[in-house]
Formats: sequence, C-alpha cells, structure tokens
Amino acid sequence: MKRILVVALLGFSAAAVAEEGVLQGDCAACHNIKGPTAQTLKAVFEKKAPDLFYAGNKFRQEWLVSWLQKPTRIRPAGMFHGDHIKVGVKGDEIDTSTLTTHPALSKADATSVAAELMKLKPHDDLIAKEKVEPGTISMQMGEMAFDKFLGCMACHLIEPEYGGLSGPELYTAAKRLQPQYMLSFIRSPQAWDPKSMMPNKNLSDANIQKMARYLESLSKEAANAK
Ligand code: HEC
Ligand code: HEC
Repeated sequence: MKRILVVALLGFSAAAVAEEGVLQGDCAACHNIKGPTAQTLKAVFEKKAPDLFYAGNKFRQEWLVSWLQKPTRIRPAGMFHGDHIKVGVKGDEIDTSTLTTHPALSKADATSVAAELMKLKPHDDLIAKEKVEPGTISMQMGEMAFDKFLGCMACHLIEPEYGGLSGPELYTAAKRLQPQYMLSFIRSPQAWDPKSMMPNKNLSDANIQKMARYLESLSKEAANAK
C-alpha cells in the first residue's frame, strides 16, 4: 500500500492503483504533480485540484501529515467558486451539495506521502528571495489593511464565514504554508502561477511583511479559538 501510494503520487501508474482498489490514492488523477502550471485559461478551468508540483516550497510538512488524514475544506466554494455558487435569498450562497470531500489517508500513508511531496521543490529560487522580518502587527491594524486598504477580503475568509469566497481561507494560512511562500505569493502570485486568479497588487515590501505577520497572528487566534 505504501509503495503503491507513493508511486501513484508521482503519477507513474494509475492502473496499478485501480487494481488495488485504492483509487483515492491516485493523487495525480486530480492534482498536477509534475508541472508546469496550466498555460491557457482553458487548462486553468479544467483543473480539478490545486497544483502540487511545488508542494515542497509551499506547505508545512506537519500540516500535510495531519490534513491528509483529516482533510477539511480550504476553498470554501470549491476549486472554482463559480461552479458551486447558487443565488439564494440572501444573495450568493455556496451550493454545498455539489462539493465533494477529499480522500483521507491513514497515518502511515499520510506520513510517507507528505515526505514525498516535500521533495517537490522547483521554486527554491523564489523562496530564497524572501526574508521574514521580525515584527508584530495588531489584529486591528492588520484587518484594516487586509480589508480596507489592500482589498484582500473580497476573496478570502479571515474567519469561518467571514470574508470572500473565491480564494483559499486565510485564517489557517500560516498553519498550512511556509512563511517565505506567503511572502513570495503575496508579492507576485503570477511568479508561481502565471494564470493565478489573484491579482498582483504591487504591494510594498513593508506591506508584504505586514500581511504575512497578520496571517501569522490570525492563524494563532484561530487555533486558540478552538
Ligand atoms: C478526486 C480528486 C482528488 C484526489 C484523488 C486527490 N485530491 Fe487533493 N485536492 C482535491 C481538491 C478539489 C482540493 C482542494 C480542496 C479545498 O481547497 O478545499 C485538494 C487539495 C489538496 C491539498 C491542499 C492543496 C492546497 O493548495 O490547498 C493537498 C496537499 C492535497 N489535496 C493532496 C492530495 C494527495 C497527496 C492526494 C493523493 C493521496 C490527493 N490530494 C488526491 C482533489 C483531489
Ligand atoms: C480577486 C481575488 C483575490 C484577491 C483580491 C486576493 N486574493 Fe489572495 N488568492 C486568491 C486566489 C484565487 C488564491 C489561490 C491561488 C490561485 O488560485 O492562484 C489566492 C491565494 C493567496 C495566498 C496563498 C494561499 C494558499 O492557500 O495557497 C495568500 C497568502 C493570499 N492569497 C493572500 C492575499 C492577500 C494578502 C491579498 C491582498 C493583498 C489577496 N490575497 C488578495 C484570490 C485573491
């Protein structure tokens, strides 16, 4: 099982996996794990799941290990919110009946798959450009900037059910993501994915650091609230 999953993860043999009846282990059926990223809008809309080919530059390994065992929703309205939004009495509502749950792995499989994912590091160059500057930001200042000044709230949740629906939830971002990845992605989403739906807002270095600090505090707050 362990070997087959890792093979499937690397996308070598979907047939072998089907034979074993562990199709849910076939990560490559949904995820791009070899790169490059989608080059055309058509390819973007055909994506079934987020790219994983730079997982080792993006995720915290310990988060991967635990999430793969108990996956929770990260994009509140699925991969493409347009596919899962219906007009309800109060405006746009998520049509949860069309959302699927993510396959879950055993602890042993999650551990070995996470270790394989962490080896995928084609973007060490982008990570090396970022430095986390120590500092703090008050939650109030952070939220003002995130919402009013920089316009991030239109697409991202900062609490369950508070914020925009088209991007990944961000109150768990710092738990999921490496700090340099957050800085780099906020600096230029298109450096990671030329067709990213997130606009490049040309933030100053100071604002990039502020946003990463805010996301750190937000995730700590979210963890404490549990
Ligand atoms: C049936 C399609 C499907 C299969 C099979 C699948 N995934 Fe996913 N995966 C998704 C979707 C859709 C999401 C986005 C979920 C969300 O944002 O709520 C996702 C999200 C993820 C994420 C978080 C990515 C991010 O950028 O937020 C990781 C990590 C992940 N999957 C790993 C795996 C691994 C490892 C496997 C194989 C063991 C796997 N997935 C199999 C569809 C799939
Ligand atoms: C128009 C919608 C939109 C706006 C505005 C927006 N984002 Fe995003 N953001 C996204 C989407 C969509 C993604 C997922 C990556 C992708 O699809 O390329 C994302 C991804 C991210 C990620 C990586 C999260 C992950 O789980 O991979 C961070 C961090 C982030 N955004 C922070 C910000 C900050 C800070 C701002 C404000 C300066 C902002 N975003 C503004 C849509 C947006």
